[in-house]
Amino acid sequence: MSVKIYIPGDSGAVAVGADRLATKLATELKQRNLDARIIRNGSRGLYWLEPMVEVETKTGRVAYGPVKVSDLDGLLEAGLLEGGDHPLALGPTEDIAFLKHQTRLTFARCGITDPLSLDEYQGHGGLAGLANAVGMAPEAIVAQVTESGLRGRGGAGFPTGIKWRTVLEADGPQKYIICNADEGDSGTFADRMIMEGDPFVVIEGMIIAGIATGATKGYVYLRSEYPHAISVMNRAVEIARKNNMLGASVLDSDHAFDMEIRVGAGAYVCGEETALLESLEGRRGLVRAKPPLPAHKGFLGRPTVVNNVISLASVPIIMDKGAEHYRDFGMGRSRGTIPVQIAGNAKHGGLFEAAFGMTLGELIDDIGGGTASGRPVKAVQVGGPLGAYFPRDLFDTPFDYEAFAARDGLIGHAGIVVFDDSADMLKQARFAFEFCAVESCGKCTPCRIGSTRGVEVIDNIRDGIEPDKQVALMSDLCNTMKFGSLCALGGFTPYPVMSAFTHFPDDFRPASMSQAAE
Ligand SMILES: Cc1cc2nc3c(=O)[nH]c(=O)nc-3n(C[C@H](O)[C@H](O)[C@H](O)COP(=O)(O)O)c2cc1C
Ligand code: SF4
Repeated sequence: MSVKIYIPGDSGAVAVGADRLATKLATELKQRNLDARIIRNGSRGLYWLEPMVEVETKTGRVAYGPVKVSDLDGLLEAGLLEGGDHPLALGPTEDIAFLKHQTRLTFARCGITDPLSLDEYQGHGGLAGLANAVGMAPEAIVAQVTESGLRGRGGAGFPTGIKWRTVLEADGPQKYIICNADEGDSGTFADRMIMEGDPFVVIEGMIIAGIATGATKGYVYLRSEYPHAISVMNRAVEIARKNNMLGASVLDSDHAFDMEIRVGAGAYVCGEETALLESLEGRRGLVRAKPPLPAHKGFLGRPTVVNNVISLASVPIIMDKGAEHYRDFGMGRSRGTIPVQIAGNAKHGGLFEAAFGMTLGELIDDIGGGTASGRPVKAVQVGGPLGAYFPRDLFDTPFDYEAFAARDGLIGHAGIVVFDDSADMLKQARFAFEFCAVESCGKCTPCRIGSTRGVEVIDNIRDGIEPDKQVALMSDLCNTMKFGSLCALGGFTPYPVMSAFTHFPDDFRPASMSQAAE
């Protein structure tokens, strides 16, 4: 039987040469008459080791990485096909510390299977949750998701079961499931990784959501910046349709569900659920006032579930293994696991799925390995461009929605961006206002005008123009934006601004004063 060699085909690995590597290895295998088959799996999420090549041996998979085309000769001579020793050898894949310390529930298959093989998906536990759901009453599915404690992974952490119940109880001739795959937060890539590495789990989660709420049609709103994910998801939908997973009778049941992939046009605000709905309906991405909630009047005015990719992808395992299994992981009201994305100036950047409760310090120092530059960590921004900057003093904060909120922070989509001591936090605060000004949908004044005034105020602080007065103005402006904005784009921009100022006041002294102090 031919040896199986795995080379990830997701965009993270392809960006660092995985396609070239796979092509060259195929040629070498042929020329050397070696009996081996290359499988393009998803990434395991250890991105600093990509392209990471894995070989199936008698004792399990062993890994090598990061592998360049120029390493192939040496690797083949060292006995790559038998898991031979080589300076790039990482040992048994599952024993690599970054993987070994994870609890992979949502990403259980990612990096293990061929993403577009429905057989492999099923062989590794896929469709078991859906098979259970088709035989259950909608109320029972909603109850199971509610009991699991699953909260939305898109940012707000709203309980998924409660959202589904609202749609289930809403009247409407047609209901919809929208998968929010706009993933605009800085340092985040979990949605992309799972769509490219295990697309059927997202589809399965959407179908279960449909059965639970009475929705028969779904859309994935996928950002245009993810062409590879768009292609994988489209192919997966076709395969699912051909295999009776989607269509008039899901898995031969009485339930109908079908779906389409729709591509966004590149606006951060279109990740906000109501702007997303506007965009999906063919209009400019302008935020809608709430109420009505999308659960009552969403897509085309019909009851609609809008859920993040990871929220939906976490549902199949809950329906397969039960609510308790999922709920038993985590802390406080943050139940289950969360795929933390470590990015920015991190030594070991990648995706780390773990039960809620690890501290920020453990994630950054022990798992992320500190900075890639080797300099001390100055700050981390958690939760995307609207998230707060945390200094080392707050690294004892556990990864938990409430613990972060208690320290004026947010988990958001669980992206962590690491900064070393060369970062200028005044510049970061200015960037937050500038980002808000560029991405603002313009519907409300505090955000549309406030963000631009914010940039000016920070420039005045930097230039030493009445700094005390400007600092008071900045905090006043942040208050107005926080409490007066229609959505979280304007409403949360104060978090990065004020956390940068509160924790790093020295960076907000005018350059002339800093020099005088030195
Ligand atoms: C400015 C802005 C951008 C957002 N971007 C995203 C996004 O890219 N993906 C996402 O899932 N949620 C995003 N959200 C949150 C959504 O509005 C919504 O809460 C989420 O899709 C609900 O799904 P969940 O309950 O599964 O988290 C954004 C919110 C705001 C205010
Ligand atoms: S806060 Fe900004 S993005 Fe949100 S509705 Fe107001 S103007 Fe639009």
